Amino acid sequence: MSDAPVLVTGGAGFIGSHLVDALLAQGRSVRVLDNLSMGKRSNLPMDNPRLQLLEGDVADAALVSEALSGCQAVAHLAAVASVQASVDDPVSTHQSNFVGTLNVCEAMREQGVKRVLFASSAAVYGNNGEGQAIDEDTPKAPLTPYAADKLASEHYLDFYRRQHGLQPAVFRFFNIFGPRQDPSSPYSGVISIFTQRAQQGLPITVFGDGEQTRDFFYVADLVELLLQALLAPQVVSGAVNVGWNQATSLNQLLAEIGGLFGGLPPVSHQAPRPGDIRHSRADNGRLRSSYRLPPATPLRKGLQGLLGLD
Ligand code: NAD
Ligand code: UD1
Repeated sequence: MSDAPVLVTGGAGFIGSHLVDALLAQGRSVRVLDNLSMGKRSNLPMDNPRLQLLEGDVADAALVSEALSGCQAVAHLAAVASVQASVDDPVSTHQSNFVGTLNVCEAMREQGVKRVLFASSAAVYGNNGEGQAIDEDTPKAPLTPYAADKLASEHYLDFYRRQHGLQPAVFRFFNIFGPRQDPSSPYSGVISIFTQRAQQGLPITVFGDGEQTRDFFYVADLVELLLQALLAPQVVSGAVNVGWNQATSLNQLLAEIGGLFGGLPPVSHQAPRPGDIRHSRADNGRLRSSYRLPPATPLRKGLQGLLGLD
């Protein structure tokens, strides 16, 4: 890799800021484009001279072009990460979650930048897993605007690959968790909400019976994969699931959290959320054959890391 900066869109957010830290630790220069809707300056080492933060929107094509100028590669992570926010407001989330990707592709074509990492999602499979591990060839069934925008973004990236020689490394993240995942919205990641509420002794709401499952993946493990994808001489062709092929129900998650705190605040149940996926577990064969996987951080150890108990 050259000395030119890596552009990280969404770099002030949860996953993005961990990637920024890792790139800076490798001695690289990083430019972040983030509208700070969820991201925070305090997630970033603002005093590092190799870091530059541009505050603005990926839906602004001119700004994306300016942000990319002189960069060698892009990690495109900016998006409204909440599935439920997209159900409530499909028009505005489409600007971030799809138009932003198109702007990144166009700016890359104009400036001849080739390598892009893209944060797609397990949400593209909808309920097609039916409780089984989902491989990448499983038919796609996006149930929400969020999932539709991620799948459309994948297709556009593939078009720019075929037509303009872009090198997209597309990852379908399952459920990522760890420090800096912001629990402040009701639509934040479930682990961030449950741990914060348990810590503060506030009641916990489970949508549905709590038997829905997710494949939780610790953020530090993810960052190791993202770094490999940025540096690899060639990109892996096709999208790659990022999960451990391990299903944890919300009830099991609550039991783990209760174990760490020596008990739980009151837990109540409400109706399942519209478009909520019942079971989500990754077949990670392609991930294993394409990348050097770090040892899996077990859920309990990840929760300890998140709570600063490690
Ligand atoms: P996050 O909300 O912490 O990070 C997203 C960042 O993008 C935030 O800093 C936010 O301010 C920024 N952003 C949002 N809209 C923007 C816009 N229009 N212009 C510029 N910046 C904008 O969420 P995260 O969990 O770190 O998610 C990062 C990426 O990974 C997202 O694309 C998300 O869809 C994807 N993803 C996350 C998970 C997960 O479990 N966390 C799973 C699958 C995919
Ligand atoms: C998450 C990510 C999404 C990603 C997807 C990939 C976030 C906010 N969402 O969506 O970006 O694409 O994984 O798999 O990071 N729940 C409760 N109580 C709460 C909060 C949530 O019961 O207070 C339930 C939800 O209804 C859902 C489960 O917990 O059944 C997980 O919810 P959430 O963390 O929002 O994740 P996903 O919807 O899976």
